[in-house]
Amino acid sequence: MPRRLTGFTPSGDLHLGNYIGAIAPIVAGQGTTDTVVFISDLHALTLEHDPSDVRRRTLEFATLLLAAGADPGTCLFLVQSHVPEHTELHYLLECTTGYGEAQRMIQFKEKAGRQRQVRMSLLTYPILMAADILLYDTDEVPVGEDQTQHVELARDLAQRFNTRYGPTFTVPRAVNPPVAARIMDLTAPGDKMSKSAASPTGTLRLLDEPDVLRRKVMRAVTDAGSDVVYDPERKPGVANLLAILAACTHEDPNVLAKRFDRYAELKAAVADAVVATLAPIRDRYLRLSGDPDHVRAALRTGAERARELAGRKVRQAKSAIGLLPG
Ligand code: ADP
Ligand code: TRP
Repeated sequence: MPRRLTGFTPSGDLHLGNYIGAIAPIVAGQGTTDTVVFISDLHALTLEHDPSDVRRRTLEFATLLLAAGADPGTCLFLVQSHVPEHTELHYLLECTTGYGEAQRMIQFKEKAGRQRQVRMSLLTYPILMAADILLYDTDEVPVGEDQTQHVELARDLAQRFNTRYGPTFTVPRAVNPPVAARIMDLTAPGDKMSKSAASPTGTLRLLDEPDVLRRKVMRAVTDAGSDVVYDPERKPGVANLLAILAACTHEDPNVLAKRFDRYAELKAAVADAVVATLAPIRDRYLRLSGDPDHVRAALRTGAERARELAGRKVRQAKSAIGLLPG
C-alpha cells in the first residue's frame, strides 16, 4: 500500500474547501492507502501567532478530523510537536539544503513580502515540511498547487541525501487533487476558499451553524445572465456553486446544471446539500468536544506509534550523515 501524508496547519478555521479537497479524500482512502494525518502546529509558529489560539485550534482540528471520519485505528493520527523527531530531522535536512534554494520558495517570497518582521522559521518551513514527509517514508503527498514546490524540495533533498550519504529516504511525489475539487470563495469566485480569507462571508466553515451556511450560500455572488450552466471561465460564481453541489452529492456538475432554471433554485439546492454534508460533522464535533480527553488519548497513542517509525528513520539518517551513534 502506498503511504500518503497530509498536514493541517492550525491557523484560521477549517472550511468546506479543506473538507472536499483534503479531508474527504483521506477518509475515503483509509481502507486502501496507508495514511498519515497530522496537525502541523509547528508551522503555525512561522507567522505572528497567539499561543492560546494555536493550542485551541490544534485540539479543534483534531476533533474535527475525527468528527469527519478520520479513524485513528486505521491511520497514523498525530500532532507534529508531539513527535520531536520532526524537528530533529529538520536540522539534518537544513544541512542538506542550500540557502539560495530556501530563499527561492515562492510562498516564502510572497509571505515575507507582506510583513515587516520575518521569522527565520518562515524561511526554513519548507525544510520542516520535507522532514514531515521524509520521516515516514511517504510515497504520495496530496497538495494544492501552492504547496507543489515544497514537495519538489522534499524530493530534491531526499535524492541529494540518498546520493551523498547512502539510500535513506523514500523519494515522495506530489499528487494534485482533481480540478473540480478546488472550491472558490462564495463572494470572490476568482479566489480559492481559504482559511485566511479577508471576509468570512465567502467561506463555509465546517463549524458554521446550518442557518449561517444557508445564508452564506443564498448570498453567494452569481454571474450576469440567468442560465444555469457549468462554465468556470465565463460563469465562475455559478460554476463554483455547481462544483460544491457536485462534490456534496457525488454527481457531475454538467448534469446537475440541467436540473435548474434559475439561480435561486440552484442556491437552495446547494444550501441543502452543504447542510446535509456539514451538519452531521458539526453534531459529531459537538459531541466529541464534550470529551476532549478521548481526543487527547487518540493523539497520544498516535504520537507513540509515530515515534517508533520516526525514531528508526532519524537514527538511520544520523548514522548516514556522520554522527556517532549514542
Ligand atoms: P488554506 O488554503 O485554507 O489555508 P491549507 O493550505 O491549509 O488551506 O490546505 C489544507 C488542505 O486543504 C490542502 O490539502 C489543500 O489542498 C486543501 N484545500 C485548501 N483550500 C481548498 C479549496 N478551496 N478547495 C479545495 N481544497 C482545498
Ligand atoms: N504546509 C501545509 C499547509 O500549510 C501543511 C503541511 C505541513 C503539510 N507539513 C506538511 C502538507 C507535509 C503536506 C505534507 O497547508
